[in-house]
Amino acid sequence: MQARERERYLAERTSIPDDALNYKNVSPRYLENAVDQFANNYYSELSATHYVATAAANAPFDELKKSALFQLADEQRHLEMDREVFERAGIPERDWLAAWESPGTTCRFFRHLLELEDSIEILVKGNFVAEGAAGPGTFTVLADGAEARGDVLSAVNHRARIRDETRHISYGRALVKALIEDDPGNLDTIQQWQDDSLRLFSEVARGGERQAWWEGFLGSYYKIALPMGLRPTAF
Ligand SMILES: [Fe+2]
Ligand SMILES: [Fe+2]
Repeated sequence: MQARERERYLAERTSIPDDALNYKNVSPRYLENAVDQFANNYYSELSATHYVATAAANAPFDELKKSALFQLADEQRHLEMDREVFERAGIPERDWLAAWESPGTTCRFFRHLLELEDSIEILVKGNFVAEGAAGPGTFTVLADGAEARGDVLSAVNHRARIRDETRHISYGRALVKALIEDDPGNLDTIQQWQDDSLRLFSEVARGGERQAWWEGFLGSYYKIALPMGLRPTAF
């Protein structure tokens, strides 16, 4: 499955003309604005390679370890894709981290995830809440927006990412469903994990600049969370 996905991605990437691949067709203004988005993509995937590895290492049972290891391979591939965007777009590496740490990114949430040790908490927050909220909706918007501005590589990357993240979300949903069936009391803990996560994300929408993104993000998450018995988070 993963080998096929990698081949499909490479075939799509090969079809991108050289000029487009080297960001010759985008405006300098686009690149200036896109650096924050590139950082959001790259560092969230970099974080995922670390927190999913922790989840695998601390997994309380074998099935969980196996799924986490499969996911780890996906996240490593995403990380390589996003690194290539930064490099081909000619953004010097010394600027990457500053873009990630600047206000309005998802940095705070991912730094929180990196501090966790409990596999279940990591996977509920990372796969169910964060990926459930971000995909596939926001990645489709990002892919279409990048393509319209001549950034074909980002568009191809986002579309490849959507296919993998959809699998990670299903796995997060199955985990949450099993936890609640196992003990309805777990719902309170999951609610707390959701509230922690969404509050850390809400910084992205502060100032109102990315309000449309934020509403799509919450909408896509509540579509999977409310049917499980979770309540909307108060901000
Ligand atoms: Fe990913
Ligand atoms: Fe993922």
